[in-house]
Amino acid sequence: MNKNKKFKIISKKEINMVWREEWKKDINSNPKAFWGQRLFLEGYLVFKKYISEKAGQIILDIGSGTGRYGVKFAQDFPNSKVIISDILEESLVIGRKLADYLGVKNAQFQKEDVLKMSFPDNHFDVIFCDVLIQHIPNYEAAMSEMKRVLKPGGRIIVSAVNYWNPHTLYKFFLKLRGKGYEYNYEKSFKKKELRKLFEDFNLEVVGEDGFYFAYGLFRLKKYYDKFFRFLGGACNRIVTKFIDPVTNRFVSRFFGFEIFIVGEKKKDDDQYKIKVKNSGIVKLQFYNDFPDGNLVIAESLKSVPFEIKRIYFVNSLHNQEAIRGKHAHKKLEQYIFCINGKFTLSLDDGTVKQKIRLDSPYYGVRLGPELWHTMIEFSPDCVILVFAGDYYNESDYIRDYDEFLKYIKNNRNDII
Ligand code: TYD
Repeated sequence: MNKNKKFKIISKKEINMVWREEWKKDINSNPKAFWGQRLFLEGYLVFKKYISEKAGQIILDIGSGTGRYGVKFAQDFPNSKVIISDILEESLVIGRKLADYLGVKNAQFQKEDVLKMSFPDNHFDVIFCDVLIQHIPNYEAAMSEMKRVLKPGGRIIVSAVNYWNPHTLYKFFLKLRGKGYEYNYEKSFKKKELRKLFEDFNLEVVGEDGFYFAYGLFRLKKYYDKFFRFLGGACNRIVTKFIDPVTNRFVSRFFGFEIFIVGEKKKDDDQYKIKVKNSGIVKLQFYNDFPDGNLVIAESLKSVPFEIKRIYFVNSLHNQEAIRGKHAHKKLEQYIFCINGKFTLSLDDGTVKQKIRLDSPYYGVRLGPELWHTMIEFSPDCVILVFAGDYYNESDYIRDYDEFLKYIKNNRNDII
C-alpha cells in the first residue's frame, strides 16, 4: 500500500482552489436561485429556530459560501447586523449580488479566514458556521477562533456533513470507480465527534439537529438517474412527511445529510464553578489592546493572594496521552493557569471530584493544600503557568493516592 497516499496532507491552497472554481461557476446565476435549492430549503428553517429574535444582535456567518444563509438571516432579523464572511472574494461577490438584488442593507461582507479572524474577542451574539469545518483538517483551531470572537452567553451553530448518511456511500462508490470526490477534501462527522468538539471547548450544548436525509441518494442521480431520483424523492417524502413529525425528527437528527450542534459560551461566573474544597478561581486583570495583543497582569499579595516565591511553566506538550500532577500538597498554595491552548484539570478533595477544562489565560485555579490534582488532555500548543507560595520541597508532596486519603482523614482541618 502506498503509505504516502494514506497520509497525504491537503493544503489550504488546494482546498481554496476547489471552492474558487465552484463559486466562479455560480457567479452569473440568478442570485435568488440559491434560495431555491433543496438543501437550503430543507435546512434554513431548522437552523433559524435556534437564533433568537432579539433586536440589536451581531450575527456572523463564517465560511458563508454563496452567502445565502447570511443574507436570509439579515432579511429575517432586520434589527440585527449580519457579517457575512468567507476566505474567498469569489464567494463574497455572489453574496453581495444577492443582498443588492433584495435591497438587504443590514448585511456586511468581509473577507476573513476562520483560523485567524480580524474581529476582537467576545464580539458576536450569534456565530453560524455551515458545513465549513469539514474542509479544514485542523478544524479544532477554527473552533477555538470562533469561540474567541463569541460573546459570553452567545450562541454558536456548527454543522458538518454526517458520516451516517447515504452520502458516505456515495463517496465510497466514487472511490470504487476510481473517481475523486468533486469537493476534494471533506471529513464526514459523527454526531458524537461534533458534540465532543463543543464539550472540549467548554461550550454548553443547547441543541442538536440535522436535515435532508435523501441528499446522498440524489447525488447518485448522475449514475442511475431514474432509479436514484425516484428513491431520493420517495425517501425524502417518507422521512419529512411521516417519520420525522412523529419521532421528534429522529431520522433527520441522526441520519440527515447535515448534522449540527448548537452551543453557548458560558458566562464567566458559570465557566469555572468550583465544587471541591481548598480551591477557587482568580481572574487576572488584562488589557485588550486588539490587534496589538493582550496584556495580562498578576500581582503577588494582590490578585494572587499569597507571596509568590516560585514560578514554573510546562510547555512542549506534544504527547496527547501525557498525564501530569497526580499528587497533592500538604501545605503549599498554588494557582495554575493555562496561558495558551487548553487542558483538563482534574481536582479531588477526597470526597468531591471535578474536572475543569482550562482554556482561558485570564483564569487561574487555586491548588490549595490537600487537593489531589491531575492534568490531562493537553492541546499541543498548551502552556501551563503556576505561581507557588513556596520553594520546591519534596517533603510537602503526597504522591500516592491511598496515602492522600489517609492523610486527609487524619489531618482534615477543612481549610476553605
Ligand atoms: P512534578 O511536580 O511531579 O511535576 P508535575 O506535577 O507537573 O507532573 O515534578 C517533576 C519533577 O520536577 C520532580 O522530580 C520534581 C521536580 N521539580 C523541581 O525540582 N522543582 C519544582 O519547582 C517543581 C515543580 C518540580
